[in-house]
Amino acid sequence: MTGYDVAIFLHSHVRWGVFLGTALVGVSSVIAARKQRAWTTRDDRTHKLLVGLADTQMLLGLLLYFIWSPISRAFLHAPKTSMHEHTLRFFGLEHAVTMLLAIVVLHAGRARSKRAKDEKDEKDEKDESKRHRPVAISALVAFALIASSIPWPWLRHGRPLFRGLGGGSRESTKSSAADVCPPIYANECAGCHGAQGHGDGPAATSLQPRPRDFADSTWSTKRSDPELAAVIRDGGAAHGMSAAMPGHSNLSSEQLTELVACVRAFADAAPSQP
Ligand code: HEC
Repeated sequence: MTGYDVAIFLHSHVRWGVFLGTALVGVSSVIAARKQRAWTTRDDRTHKLLVGLADTQMLLGLLLYFIWSPISRAFLHAPKTSMHEHTLRFFGLEHAVTMLLAIVVLHAGRARSKRAKDEKDEKDEKDESKRHRPVAISALVAFALIASSIPWPWLRHGRPLFRGLGGGSRESTKSSAADVCPPIYANECAGCHGAQGHGDGPAATSLQPRPRDFADSTWSTKRSDPELAAVIRDGGAAHGMSAAMPGHSNLSSEQLTELVACVRAFADAAPSQP
């Protein structure tokens, strides 16, 4: 189990707290504002919890974005070509920006609600009902933003509603092929290509075309080592393949050779087809 697996598992589940939380807080604050109900410590605690959950979700998202996700890494590596690849553009840009905006809106709502308290009528100490309005508006706007940018499973870039822990690397200890692979493979490639090279990494779900199964030995014999090394170095777009395959111009020729051997090892380890 990698940091990527854990973070994406948590990010997938904390999502429900934020998604349902904004809806519930939004609706109940609309009702409270209309009834001019006083703002209670319980309201305050609930709202604080919601904002805290959203911050946690954002932190997980930032860790995924800047450290673990091969999708955002591919996007940041070549933002221009990535814009043409639906999944890379969604996670690299749209999802990140929309969700950050939702967090900003939630925080702005909290700040405005606190200000509404300070501005309350000096004579009427009890008039704290004004605090509901900004909370209601911000929660409902955040809800709409979040709902519009969750990778719902029925979308092209869809992800499961409930992720399991372990993702594509569940079987990572079983194979001997993976032993040939340098750590770079687990860190930079397995997210898409899968721990066993089957093209079933947690980030590959919605890629079109999906990465092929490296264990398919009929494919392996059709590509020369320099060809494989060139795709890994330059990325797919430069070789007429999908832009979702990022380039790795930072790798030394030694590292490239190791990775080619690793890709080949998956096919060698697989039972050969008749
Ligand atoms: C963001 C996802 C992603 C990451 C990360 C990624 N790949 Fe790929 N890779 C792909 C996709 C998608 C394709 C298929 C492109 C196509 O068929 O058009 C591909 C294709 C390839 C191919 C060519 C297969 C062929 O058909 O000849 C090789 C080799 C390869 N990747 C190796 C690697 C290695 C090694 C790494 C890590 C250094 C890596 N990839 C990282 C998505 C990824």
